[in-house]
Order: sequence, then C-alpha cells, then structure tokens
Amino acid sequence: MSESTESKGAALRDVWMEAAQRLEDAGVEDARFEAEVLLRHAAAKSRAELYANLTESLDPGALRDFEATLARRIQREPLAYITGNREFYKLDFEVTPDVLVPRPESELLVEAALDHLRRLRVRRAAVVDVGTGSGAIGIAIVKNRRDARLVGIDVSREALLVARRNAQRLIPRRPGDWIQGDLLTPINGPVDCVVANLPYVPEGRLAELEPEVAEHEPRQALTPGTTGTELILRLLTQLGSRLAPQGVALIELDSGQEDTVSAALQRMLPMAVIEVLDDLSGQPRVVKAVNG
Ligand SMILES: C[S@@+](CC[C@H](N)C(=O)[O-])C[C@H]1O[C@@H](n2cnc3c(N)ncnc32)[C@H](O)[C@@H]1O
Repeated sequence: MSESTESKGAALRDVWMEAAQRLEDAGVEDARFEAEVLLRHAAAKSRAELYANLTESLDPGALRDFEATLARRIQREPLAYITGNREFYKLDFEVTPDVLVPRPESELLVEAALDHLRRLRVRRAAVVDVGTGSGAIGIAIVKNRRDARLVGIDVSREALLVARRNAQRLIPRRPGDWIQGDLLTPINGPVDCVVANLPYVPEGRLAELEPEVAEHEPRQALTPGTTGTELILRLLTQLGSRLAPQGVALIELDSGQEDTVSAALQRMLPMAVIEVLDDLSGQPRVVKAVNG
C-alpha cells in the first residue's frame, strides 16, 4: 500500500475483498457481488466508476456507512432492504421491509400477462394485481402495455404506500389505483387480467427458509396457513363473477400445489382453458386460466 493511500485509508479493492470474505464467512452465497453492491451503495458510485477507482480510498463517512450496511448484511438482512431497491423486469423498484422483495421467478407472470394481452386485442385492458406488495408485477405489465388500467390490491396499508410510490415514479402517466382490501373483494369486474403472487408457503415450512426470508420478510407476505393454498383457493371462488370473457388469471404457486389449484380453477371456471407454466429452473410456477 502506498504512503498516500495508507494516509487516506485502505484502497477500495482491499475494502471490497475483505468484506466479501466476511460475507462468505456469514453464509452469504454471492458474497463478492453483494460486497460490491454495498460498496457502490456507500460510495455512491456506478459499477464503472468503482472499477475505474479501485486504488482510491473511501472517505471516512462513506466507510462508516459501508461498515454499518455490511454488519446488517452479515446479520442476513436482505440486500434489497439495505440498499432500498431491487430490479424486477428491468425496472428499479423501491423495496422496504413492509414488502416482499420481488423474485425473478415472478417475471413469468409478467411475460404471460403481456403475451395474453397482445393476443386479446382489447383496448384499455383492466389489469388487477392481487397481493401487490411493492407493485412490481402490475407496474411491470402496465409499463409495457401503455393503454392498460391497473388496480393493485393488498391487505397491507404500508405495502400499498410503497407500491404507490413505485407507480408514481415508474408509470407516472397512468399510476393506477391502489386499494386496501381482501383479495378481489374491492373489485366488481369485468377484469381482463388478474395476476396474483399471494403468500403460498405452508406455515410449517417457514423455519426451513433462508434467514433473509424467514426472519426479515413480512410473515403476512409469506404464509397463508397450514397448506399454503388457503388464499389462492379463496381467490378462485371470487374469479367466476369478475373475470371477463377471454380474460386471463395467472396465479403463482409452489411446485406441488399446481394440481390442487388447477382442479379448483376448472371447477370455478368450467369453460376455461387451464395450463401450468414452468419457471426457468423447470419447476411448475404459474397456473394460467383463460376464461371461456
Ligand atoms: C408473496 S407477497 C407478493 C408481493 C408481490 N406481488 C410480489 O410478487 O413481489 C404477497 C402479498 O399478498 C398480500 N396479502 C396477504 N393476504 C392478502 C389478502 N387476503 N388480500 C390481499 N393481499 C393479501 C401480502 O400483504 C403481500 O404483500
């Protein structure tokens, strides 16, 4: 280390590598990448700026901030809660501990919804995101389908505040309606597209989840009860009177729940065409029903 670097403090490269080691020791999987994200967050640098300045040092204030965020991550607080954001469908969403961190597998709901809306050829399609959390799924749909009208529903008032802020920033011209309520109860229909990533983890499996999830994400966002399908099955009973002809319902679930949910959907919507969609890892992830 040169004298001038030493007098200013450790070089960014050394701070980064040491942090990566500490995260790895704490059981964080992608330690090197996460250390980089925390460092860029504290230093307020883009990736290119960080890489171009690896021999420079952090100023003392930024170094203190970095140490504080690193300590939180070592305690297995989710990275997205620390940085306050998460990318989903190439959009940057605000995320707080009041909302579930949007998951990459939920992008399948967005893809399938956009695909169906393209075929449907309805103008100003009504899209409802049930259990909207940060609003990620509904907002990503409307961002890519400019004439759609969005309603996001959640039981959590705090989550809706986050969703509304995301909508105002990401789809300011059509920021949608954000309603506190139980499932589809606040809506009369007809709805062209219902997307739902509701809680589906069976209560008894909560303890098996990573500490980031089990100890930090809202319990109300994770589990609906003992089987995991309680809320989804209740949602299905509300679809019949609200889904428009040729409308689509896309419901995210866990592998193993698809048969129960498909069978219930077929009972509720006897004329519907039902399909199970796999995620990128080949696991059943979404049940899709197109109304007759
Ligand atoms: C698994 S999180 C998903 C959040 C968001 N859709 C996403 O994919 O990031 C489930 C959400 O459903 C909400 N929720 C739980 N019970 C609900 C109910 N009965 N009606 C509406 N929303 C509910 C929770 O508050 C939580 O925000």
